[in-house]
Amino acid sequence: MPETTLAAIVRSAAERLAAAGVPEPLVDAELLTAHVQKIGRGELQAAIVRGDGMGEDEAQALDALVSRRSVREPLQHLTGTAPFRHRELAVGPGVFVPRPETETVAQFAIDALLNDASGEPIGVDLCTGSGAIAVAMATEVPHARVFAVELSDDAYPWAERNTREIENLTLVHGDLADTLHEIDGTASVVISNPPYVPDAAVPRDPEVRLFDPAMALYGGVDGLDVVRALSVRGLQLLRPGGLLVIEHGELQGEAIRTLLADDGWRAPSTHRDLTQRDRSTTALRP
Ligand SMILES: C[S@@+](CC[C@H](N)C(=O)[O-])C[C@H]1O[C@@H](n2cnc3c(N)ncnc32)[C@H](O)[C@@H]1O
Repeated sequence: MPETTLAAIVRSAAERLAAAGVPEPLVDAELLTAHVQKIGRGELQAAIVRGDGMGEDEAQALDALVSRRSVREPLQHLTGTAPFRHRELAVGPGVFVPRPETETVAQFAIDALLNDASGEPIGVDLCTGSGAIAVAMATEVPHARVFAVELSDDAYPWAERNTREIENLTLVHGDLADTLHEIDGTASVVISNPPYVPDAAVPRDPEVRLFDPAMALYGGVDGLDVVRALSVRGLQLLRPGGLLVIEHGELQGEAIRTLLADDGWRAPSTHRDLTQRDRSTTALRP
């Protein structure tokens, strides 16, 4: 088989990625090749079976992307998109790449909005990053009114890009501690995936350590600085009976339940993700 066939090109890309320690080298090689070819992964696999080749320009473009992935730049920065629930979000340097586990955390907020008896329930996503959770709430519960807050100057433009065409979503650039006071006492749901990594617990994966923004990761000595601010702000934003949803690290459930109970929240409960790790805590506004 000549070296210019797609099959050989994908194989060689996967070998380079494997040598660099990329966790799923064949998947990434196929996704990068499909991205360069402007086709889906399924179409690429069909083209490989047919014995198709690749043009010289595309081969060079792929070579450059494989070099960047080999220094562990996140795949999503290279393709420019990340899937989240039923949407594709624009992502790149400066914004946290949304994770699959957050998709299940977002479900708590979506279910609460769907089950809310009011005609136009309000959902708030504090620490919105790319806008992932806010976009999911606004598009999956179209009768809801959704607000999203992001502090980082680097992340905000990505959220702007992902939310600008969604009519029932209002994006605010600022600190969760002092924004949205105009809707205090009216929200049915406040959700957040805040920075929660303790300052000294530097993540092992290079994709996270080197490319996720520090403001998205670190939450002070115990990782809970932003959670404490969320508890205060959540009590102000929610209507009585409204739901708070916080994503967190697998070892933080108990500390967060205690913190919320001390602040007066009702029924703090921690929930596991699909890998059976504590992943989120919910509580009700008294
Ligand atoms: C872990 S990322 C989560 C992004 C997104 N919600 C997601 O799940 O993909 C946390 C985000 O919170 C933002 N952030 C940190 N402190 C904040 C604050 N005080 N007010 C608003 N946003 C903040 C960071 O810039 C970052 O975009």
